[in-house]
Amino acid sequence: MRVAWITGASSGIGEALARHLAEEGWAVLAQARRQDRLESLAQAYPGRIRPFVGDVRDPEACHEAVQEALRTFGRLDAVIANAGISHRALVEEVALSVLRDVFEVNFWGAVHAIRAALPEVRARRGWIVGVSSVAGFRGLPARSGYSASKFALNGFLEALRTELYGTGVCVLTAAPGFTRSEIREKALTATGELQGESPLPEARLMSAEAVAAALYRAMLRRQKYLVLTTQGRLTVWLNRLFPGWLDGLVYRHFLREPESPLRSAASGQR
Ligand SMILES: NC(=O)c1ccc[n+]([C@@H]2O[C@H](COP(=O)([O-])OP(=O)(O)OC[C@H]3O[C@@H](n4cnc5c(N)ncnc54)[C@H](OP(=O)(O)O)[C@@H]3O)[C@@H](O)[C@H]2O)c1
Repeated sequence: MRVAWITGASSGIGEALARHLAEEGWAVLAQARRQDRLESLAQAYPGRIRPFVGDVRDPEACHEAVQEALRTFGRLDAVIANAGISHRALVEEVALSVLRDVFEVNFWGAVHAIRAALPEVRARRGWIVGVSSVAGFRGLPARSGYSASKFALNGFLEALRTELYGTGVCVLTAAPGFTRSEIREKALTATGELQGESPLPEARLMSAEAVAAALYRAMLRRQKYLVLTTQGRLTVWLNRLFPGWLDGLVYRHFLREPESPLRSAASGQR
Protein backbone atom coordinates (compact mmCIF):
# COMPACT_ATOMS: atom_id res chain seq x y z
CA MET A 1 0.00 0.00 0.00
CA ARG A 2 1.44 3.35 -1.05
CA VAL A 3 1.41 6.20 1.41
CA ALA A 4 0.94 9.93 0.75
CA TRP A 5 1.18 12.90 3.09
CA ILE A 6 -1.13 15.70 1.98
CA THR A 7 -0.91 19.15 3.54
CA GLY A 8 -4.03 21.31 3.59
CA ALA A 9 -6.32 18.26 3.60
CA SER A 10 -9.19 19.73 5.63
CA SER A 11 -10.98 21.31 2.64
CA GLY A 12 -10.97 21.93 -1.10
CA ILE A 13 -8.35 20.31 -3.30
CA GLY A 14 -6.41 18.70 -0.43
CA GLU A 15 -9.50 17.02 1.01
CA ALA A 16 -10.57 15.82 -2.44
CA LEU A 17 -7.07 14.44 -3.02
CA ALA A 18 -7.14 12.58 0.30
CA ARG A 19 -10.48 11.00 -0.61
CA HIS A 20 -9.33 10.18 -4.16
CA LEU A 21 -6.08 8.55 -3.08
CA ALA A 22 -7.82 6.56 -0.32
CA GLU A 23 -10.34 5.31 -2.88
CA GLU A 24 -7.44 4.33 -5.16
CA GLY A 25 -6.06 2.15 -2.36
CA TRP A 26 -3.48 4.52 -0.89
CA ALA A 27 -3.02 5.35 2.77
CA VAL A 28 -3.00 9.07 3.54
CA LEU A 29 -1.66 11.22 6.33
CA ALA A 30 -4.03 14.19 6.14
CA GLN A 31 -2.59 17.37 7.63
CA ALA A 32 -4.16 20.74 8.38
CA ARG A 33 -4.98 22.87 11.43
CA ARG A 34 -8.71 22.18 11.77
CA GLN A 35 -8.92 18.97 13.79
CA ASP A 36 -12.71 18.50 13.52
CA ARG A 37 -12.57 18.56 9.71
CA LEU A 38 -9.68 16.08 9.61
CA GLU A 39 -11.38 13.73 12.04
CA SER A 40 -14.60 13.52 10.08
CA LEU A 41 -12.57 12.92 6.90
CA ALA A 42 -10.62 10.11 8.60
CA GLN A 43 -13.81 8.55 9.99
CA ALA A 44 -15.09 8.11 6.43
CA TYR A 45 -11.96 6.07 5.53
CA PRO A 46 -11.02 3.99 8.58
CA GLY A 47 -7.48 2.60 8.39
CA ARG A 48 -6.82 4.59 5.23
CA ILE A 49 -6.75 8.22 6.32
CA ARG A 50 -4.90 9.30 9.45
CA PRO A 51 -5.55 12.85 10.65
CA PHE A 52 -2.58 14.96 11.68
CA VAL A 53 -3.06 18.42 13.15
CA GLY A 54 -0.17 20.69 12.34
CA ASP A 55 0.80 24.02 10.83
CA VAL A 56 3.04 23.89 7.74
CA ARG A 57 4.68 27.15 8.82
CA ASP A 58 6.34 25.13 11.57
CA PRO A 59 9.19 22.95 10.24
CA GLU A 60 9.06 20.81 13.42
CA ALA A 61 5.39 20.00 12.79
CA CYS A 62 6.34 18.88 9.27
CA HIS A 63 9.13 16.69 10.61
CA GLU A 64 6.66 15.20 13.10
CA ALA A 65 4.15 14.54 10.28
CA VAL A 66 6.71 12.37 8.50
CA GLN A 67 7.40 10.46 11.71
CA GLU A 68 3.64 9.97 12.18
CA ALA A 69 3.29 8.59 8.63
CA LEU A 70 6.14 6.15 9.28
CA ARG A 71 4.74 5.11 12.69
CA THR A 72 1.23 4.62 11.30
CA PHE A 73 1.84 3.20 7.84
CA GLY A 74 5.53 2.17 7.84
CA ARG A 75 6.53 4.11 4.73
CA LEU A 76 6.09 7.37 2.81
CA ASP A 77 5.90 7.40 -0.99
CA ALA A 78 4.57 10.86 -1.77
CA VAL A 79 4.35 14.33 -0.31
CA ILE A 80 1.69 16.64 -1.73
CA ALA A 81 2.46 20.19 -0.59
CA ASN A 82 -0.98 21.65 -1.10
CA ALA A 83 -1.70 23.93 1.89
CA GLY A 84 -2.23 27.46 0.66
CA ILE A 85 -3.88 30.81 1.32
CA SER A 86 -4.61 33.82 -0.85
CA HIS A 87 -5.24 37.55 -0.56
CA ARG A 88 -6.95 40.29 -2.57
CA ALA A 89 -5.54 43.81 -2.40
CA LEU A 90 -3.41 46.12 -4.50
CA VAL A 91 0.35 46.36 -3.95
CA GLU A 92 -0.03 49.97 -2.83
CA GLU A 93 -2.65 49.08 -0.23
CA VAL A 94 -1.77 45.67 1.13
CA ALA A 95 -0.02 45.39 4.51
CA LEU A 96 3.43 43.85 4.28
CA SER A 97 2.38 41.37 6.96
CA VAL A 98 -0.27 39.98 4.57
CA LEU A 99 2.30 39.38 1.84
CA ARG A 100 4.60 37.73 4.39
CA ASP A 101 1.77 35.51 5.74
CA VAL A 102 0.96 34.30 2.24
CA PHE A 103 4.63 33.47 1.64
CA GLU A 104 4.93 31.69 4.99
CA VAL A 105 2.19 29.23 4.05
CA ASN A 106 2.46 28.93 0.27
CA PHE A 107 6.23 28.96 -0.17
CA TRP A 108 7.85 28.19 3.18
CA GLY A 109 5.11 25.73 4.16
CA ALA A 110 5.77 23.76 0.96
CA VAL A 111 9.54 23.94 1.50
CA HIS A 112 9.18 22.64 5.07
CA ALA A 113 6.98 19.73 3.96
CA ILE A 114 9.11 18.78 0.98
CA ARG A 115 12.42 18.91 2.89
CA ALA A 116 10.98 16.82 5.73
CA ALA A 117 9.68 14.16 3.33
CA LEU A 118 12.59 14.11 0.88
CA PRO A 119 14.75 11.31 2.38
CA GLU A 120 11.78 8.90 2.58
CA VAL A 121 10.40 9.82 -0.83
CA ARG A 122 13.81 9.53 -2.43
CA ALA A 123 14.31 6.05 -0.92
CA ARG A 124 10.94 5.01 -2.43
CA ARG A 125 11.57 6.71 -5.82
CA GLY A 126 8.25 8.34 -5.10
CA TRP A 127 6.52 11.66 -5.73
CA ILE A 128 7.02 15.26 -4.70
CA VAL A 129 4.00 17.31 -5.70
CA GLY A 130 3.74 21.05 -5.25
CA VAL A 131 0.27 22.48 -5.69
CA SER A 132 1.07 25.76 -7.40
CA SER A 133 -1.35 27.78 -9.54
CA VAL A 134 -1.79 29.40 -12.93
CA ALA A 135 -0.83 32.50 -10.90
CA GLY A 136 2.64 30.91 -10.63
CA PHE A 137 3.07 31.37 -14.38
CA ARG A 138 1.22 34.67 -14.88
CA GLY A 139 1.06 37.34 -12.16
CA LEU A 140 -2.51 38.33 -11.30
CA PRO A 141 -3.54 41.83 -10.23
CA ALA A 142 -4.48 42.26 -6.55
CA ARG A 143 -2.82 38.86 -5.91
CA SER A 144 0.81 40.01 -6.01
CA GLY A 145 1.91 38.10 -2.90
CA TYR A 146 -0.02 35.00 -3.94
CA SER A 147 1.45 35.11 -7.47
CA ALA A 148 4.96 35.71 -6.16
CA SER A 149 4.70 32.82 -3.68
CA LYS A 150 3.65 30.46 -6.48
CA PHE A 151 6.38 31.72 -8.85
CA ALA A 152 8.86 31.06 -6.01
CA LEU A 153 7.41 27.59 -5.50
CA ASN A 154 7.71 26.83 -9.23
CA GLY A 155 11.39 27.82 -9.20
CA PHE A 156 12.04 25.75 -6.09
CA LEU A 157 10.38 22.70 -7.65
CA GLU A 158 12.26 23.11 -10.94
CA ALA A 159 15.60 23.34 -9.12
CA LEU A 160 14.73 20.32 -6.99
CA ARG A 161 13.63 18.33 -10.03
CA THR A 162 17.02 18.98 -11.59
CA GLU A 163 18.83 18.02 -8.37
CA LEU A 164 16.90 14.76 -8.38
CA TYR A 165 17.63 14.05 -12.06
CA GLY A 166 18.16 10.33 -12.58
CA THR A 167 16.96 9.31 -9.09
CA GLY A 168 13.55 8.12 -10.23
CA VAL A 169 11.73 10.64 -8.03
CA CYS A 170 8.86 12.41 -9.81
CA VAL A 171 8.64 16.15 -9.08
CA LEU A 172 5.28 17.45 -10.25
CA THR A 173 4.34 21.13 -10.41
CA ALA A 174 0.54 21.12 -10.43
CA ALA A 175 -1.18 24.36 -11.41
CA PRO A 176 -4.94 24.29 -11.00
CA GLY A 177 -7.03 27.02 -12.56
CA PHE A 178 -10.00 28.50 -10.69
CA THR A 179 -11.35 25.66 -8.54
CA ARG A 180 -14.37 25.53 -6.22
CA SER A 181 -13.00 25.63 -2.63
CA GLU A 182 -12.79 27.83 0.46
CA ILE A 183 -9.71 29.73 -0.74
CA ARG A 184 -11.43 32.97 -1.78
CA GLU A 185 -13.69 33.05 1.28
CA LYS A 186 -10.54 32.73 3.43
CA ALA A 187 -8.45 35.14 1.34
CA LEU A 188 -6.93 38.01 3.29
CA THR A 189 -7.92 41.62 2.73
CA ALA A 190 -5.42 44.51 2.62
CA THR A 191 -5.38 44.58 6.41
CA GLY A 192 -5.30 40.82 6.96
CA GLU A 193 -8.98 40.14 7.74
CA LEU A 194 -10.71 37.20 6.07
CA GLN A 195 -12.51 38.27 2.90
CA GLY A 196 -15.53 36.21 4.01
CA GLU A 197 -17.01 35.63 0.57
CA SER A 198 -15.91 34.69 -2.91
CA PRO A 199 -16.04 37.21 -5.76
CA LEU A 200 -16.31 34.32 -8.24
CA PRO A 201 -19.33 32.15 -9.19
CA GLU A 202 -17.97 29.18 -7.23
CA ALA A 203 -20.62 26.75 -8.51
CA ARG A 204 -19.38 27.26 -12.09
CA LEU A 205 -15.70 26.59 -11.30
CA MET A 206 -13.86 23.29 -11.77
CA SER A 207 -14.60 20.96 -8.86
CA ALA A 208 -11.90 20.00 -6.38
CA GLU A 209 -12.74 16.35 -7.13
CA ALA A 210 -11.95 16.84 -10.84
CA VAL A 211 -8.67 18.53 -9.92
CA ALA A 212 -7.81 15.61 -7.62
CA ALA A 213 -8.52 13.04 -10.34
CA ALA A 214 -6.39 14.92 -12.90
CA LEU A 215 -3.56 15.38 -10.42
CA TYR A 216 -3.57 11.68 -9.54
CA ARG A 217 -3.45 10.75 -13.25
CA ALA A 218 -0.48 13.12 -13.69
CA MET A 219 1.27 11.42 -10.75
CA LEU A 220 0.80 7.98 -12.28
CA ARG A 221 2.17 9.26 -15.61
CA ARG A 222 5.05 10.83 -13.67
CA GLN A 223 4.45 14.20 -15.34
CA LYS A 224 6.57 17.24 -14.54
CA TYR A 225 3.79 19.79 -15.04
CA LEU A 226 0.02 19.84 -14.91
CA VAL A 227 -1.87 23.01 -15.83
CA LEU A 228 -5.63 22.84 -15.45
CA THR A 229 -8.69 24.38 -17.06
CA THR A 230 -8.76 25.55 -20.66
CA GLN A 231 -8.60 29.15 -19.44
CA GLY A 232 -5.55 28.29 -17.30
CA ARG A 233 -3.67 26.57 -20.13
CA LEU A 234 -4.49 29.39 -22.54
CA THR A 235 -3.28 31.97 -20.02
CA VAL A 236 0.07 30.21 -19.50
CA TRP A 237 0.58 29.72 -23.24
CA LEU A 238 -0.44 33.25 -24.28
CA ASN A 239 1.71 34.74 -21.54
CA ARG A 240 4.78 33.00 -22.95
CA LEU A 241 4.10 34.41 -26.41
CA PHE A 242 2.47 37.80 -25.80
CA PRO A 243 3.03 38.90 -22.18
CA GLY A 244 2.41 42.61 -22.87
CA TRP A 245 -0.82 41.97 -24.74
CA LEU A 246 -2.03 39.71 -21.94
CA ASP A 247 -1.66 42.55 -19.40
CA GLY A 248 -4.71 44.30 -20.87
CA LEU A 249 -6.73 41.10 -21.12
CA VAL A 250 -6.00 40.08 -17.53
CA TYR A 251 -6.60 43.64 -16.28
CA ARG A 252 -10.03 43.81 -17.91
CA HIS A 253 -10.93 40.32 -16.65
CA PHE A 254 -10.13 41.19 -13.02
CA LEU A 255 -11.70 44.66 -13.33
CA ARG A 256 -15.04 42.90 -13.87
CA GLU A 257 -14.84 41.03 -10.54
CA PRO A 258 -17.36 42.16 -7.91
CA GLU A 259 -15.74 44.82 -5.73
CA SER A 260 -12.53 44.57 -7.69
CA PRO A 261 -9.73 46.57 -6.02
CA LEU A 262 -8.76 47.56 -9.58
CA ARG A 263 -11.98 49.51 -9.93
CA SER A 264 -11.27 51.88 -7.04
CA ALA A 265 -7.76 52.36 -8.44
CA ALA A 266 -9.13 53.09 -11.92
CA SER A 267 -11.62 55.68 -10.64
CA GLY A 268 -9.02 57.31 -8.41
CA GLN A 269 -10.98 56.55 -5.23
CA ARG A 270 -7.91 55.66 -3.21
N1 LIG B 1 -9.13 27.07 -5.52
C1 LIG B 1 -8.47 27.60 -6.53
O1 LIG B 1 -9.05 28.33 -7.37
C2 LIG B 1 -7.00 27.33 -6.68
C3 LIG B 1 -6.40 27.62 -7.91
C4 LIG B 1 -5.05 27.38 -8.08
C5 LIG B 1 -4.31 26.85 -7.04
N2 LIG B 1 -4.90 26.57 -5.84
C6 LIG B 1 -4.07 26.04 -4.75
O2 LIG B 1 -4.62 24.84 -4.25
C7 LIG B 1 -4.20 24.66 -2.90
C8 LIG B 1 -5.40 24.27 -2.06
O3 LIG B 1 -6.29 25.37 -1.99
P1 LIG B 1 -7.88 25.20 -2.04
O4 LIG B 1 -8.35 25.97 -3.20
O5 LIG B 1 -8.28 23.80 -1.88
O6 LIG B 1 -8.25 26.10 -0.74
P2 LIG B 1 -8.94 25.77 0.65
O7 LIG B 1 -10.22 25.04 0.48
O8 LIG B 1 -8.97 27.06 1.38
O9 LIG B 1 -7.89 24.78 1.34
C9 LIG B 1 -6.67 25.24 1.86
C10 LIG B 1 -6.13 24.19 2.81
O10 LIG B 1 -4.87 24.65 3.33
C11 LIG B 1 -4.90 24.48 4.74
N3 LIG B 1 -4.00 25.44 5.38
C12 LIG B 1 -4.03 26.80 5.30
N4 LIG B 1 -3.06 27.33 6.05
C13 LIG B 1 -2.40 26.27 6.63
C14 LIG B 1 -1.31 26.17 7.52
N5 LIG B 1 -0.67 27.26 7.98
N6 LIG B 1 -0.89 24.94 7.91
C15 LIG B 1 -1.53 23.82 7.46
N7 LIG B 1 -2.57 23.87 6.59
C16 LIG B 1 -3.00 25.07 6.20
C17 LIG B 1 -6.36 24.66 5.15
O11 LIG B 1 -6.66 23.99 6.34
P3 LIG B 1 -6.73 24.60 7.82
O12 LIG B 1 -7.32 25.98 7.71
O13 LIG B 1 -7.59 23.60 8.53
O14 LIG B 1 -5.33 24.59 8.32
C18 LIG B 1 -7.04 23.93 4.00
O15 LIG B 1 -7.07 22.56 4.25
C19 LIG B 1 -3.54 25.99 -2.48
O16 LIG B 1 -2.13 25.85 -2.50
C20 LIG B 1 -4.00 26.95 -3.54
O17 LIG B 1 -3.08 28.01 -3.72
C21 LIG B 1 -6.23 26.79 -5.63
